[in-house]
Amino acid sequence: MQYSKKVMDHFMNPRNMGTIEGASGVGEVGNPQCGDIMKIYLDIDDEGIIKDVKFKTFGCGSAIASSSMATEMIKGKTIHEALELTNKAVAEALDGLPPVKMHCSVLAEQAVKSALLDYAKKNNIVIPELENYEFDDAHEHEHEEE
Ligand code: FES
Repeated sequence: MQYSKKVMDHFMNPRNMGTIEGASGVGEVGNPQCGDIMKIYLDIDDEGIIKDVKFKTFGCGSAIASSSMATEMIKGKTIHEALELTNKAVAEALDGLPPVKMHCSVLAEQAVKSALLDYAKKNNIVIPELENYEFDDAHEHEHEEE
């Protein structure tokens, strides 16, 4: 299986690994098939800007690289911009993932959305984009890539 240099780099030197004490929002998602788990912590200021992001991933190398890349992509962005982060964008930013590893990037997209949903709940705000978002469709995406 061939991994891009970027995947290897983010796997060997993950960015933003760790946790945030008193985070504005925390998201946790898992893939039932592989058992991997990803947690994302967001620190969001009053203007709705993501000041800091950290992650903890118990999973494969592609999941670690995907979470590392996803945190870099949403750091300093608005909530709205973070909502637009797709697993495809994460995979592309990593110069691609092998087809059987696409679901690892889905986990990153879901973890970010799950953390944003947690933030919304804590602050009594509604994020319309997340109202009908399916958090457990990781294997559907996987089939799409097959
Ligand atoms: Fe499941 Fe990578 S193998 S997240």
